[in-house]
Amino acid sequence: MTARPIIIAPDPRLKVKSKPVKKVDADVRRLMDEMLETMHGAHGIGLAAIQIGVEKRVIVIDTAKHDEKPNPIRMANPEIIEVSDDDVAHEEGCLSLPEHFSEVARPESVRVRYLDQENEIRELDADGILAVCVQHEIDHLDGILFVDHISALKRNMILRKLTKQKKLEAEAS
Ligand code: NI
Repeated sequence: MTARPIIIAPDPRLKVKSKPVKKVDADVRRLMDEMLETMHGAHGIGLAAIQIGVEKRVIVIDTAKHDEKPNPIRMANPEIIEVSDDDVAHEEGCLSLPEHFSEVARPESVRVRYLDQENEIRELDADGILAVCVQHEIDHLDGILFVDHISALKRNMILRKLTKQKKLEAEAS
């Protein structure tokens, strides 16, 4: 199992709508494990397959803190089937927009239905940071980044900085 390079915004691949998986088979399980390794290696708490260039509706999450036991969650075809009435704002970041953070308002709790690594249908009630993370990762599957939820002014500022950073890195290599 190897960690894969993470795509950094702005990049057209991050705007793609990912396709459902037909079945969680050995290939999808391998993808999930590679994603977890990539995510943990980058100290993230969530990752969508498209962030490593795979157009499949697969996400992984682990919101355990450093001093807690790892709690990896693997989801294929995740779907939000219930949301709370109340919205709450949390500061969000993203491995595809390194070192940029912004407050995003989302439903406080959600119920998500998905296929697990054994291809079993499961449902999860999420609140707190887990609810934020699930919604953020499912957004990725529809080509939506957290900066798409904030003002155009702030979004463009962040994307301009990332573009500049990419240029500098290209020049340095
Ligand atoms: Ni993200």
